[in-house]
Amino acid sequence: MKVENSGMPEESYWNSLFNIDSIIEWLALPKEAATIVEIGCGYGTFTVPLAVRSAGDIYTFDIEPSMLEVAKSNARKAGVSNINFALRDVLERGTGLESDSIDMVLLFNILHLREKRIFLEEAARILKHGGTVAIIHWRKDVATPRGPAVNTRPDQERILNAIDGLTLDYRGTSKILEPYHWGMQLIQKADSKL
Ligand SMILES: C[S@@+](CC[C@H](N)C(=O)[O-])C[C@H]1O[C@@H](n2cnc3c(N)ncnc32)[C@H](O)[C@@H]1O
Repeated sequence: MKVENSGMPEESYWNSLFNIDSIIEWLALPKEAATIVEIGCGYGTFTVPLAVRSAGDIYTFDIEPSMLEVAKSNARKAGVSNINFALRDVLERGTGLESDSIDMVLLFNILHLREKRIFLEEAARILKHGGTVAIIHWRKDVATPRGPAVNTRPDQERILNAIDGLTLDYRGTSKILEPYHWGMQLIQKADSKL
């Protein structure tokens, strides 16, 4: 099932809505060869620059063939070959990746659905101990030129409610990501689940 209101505008307009470099910096990649997953990669706005900076394997998923085609072309243009692209409904089928295998999962502009716990649960399953889930979404405190209905946007409280009982820990690392986004990071606190 495609997340409601997760369609994309034209690529250069979408990219103009973020300070991509400062968001990448905020992610603070855990190591040089981190394994990273993005669920719902769109044009690869974040996946591709991350692939340039990380020598690790990147696994990126989208439900829309057209999005994956653009993301693949962006990866080719950037000269990166460490991204594995998969056409997949992650809400219905998960990622198919091994448990305890990933350092960082990106849930960017996708958690405005009621069933956000499904994505968070899958992130918790595949993350290694100490791994990070990074979430960004549209702010509610300023007018934004795009984004889903304000009352559907996740905030810190909604995310914390959705991870209740999961092995993810919040350590107070949320931030306004000017101009229109905010982000928070959660840490996998469980030891090996294998
Ligand atoms: C709003 S876009 C965000 C793209 C990217 N994360 C970013 O921030 O630039 C959300 C993306 O999630 C994809 N998507 C929606 N539902 C999905 C699902 N069930 N499984 C995988 N991808 C999905 C959409 O096709 C879209 O490309």
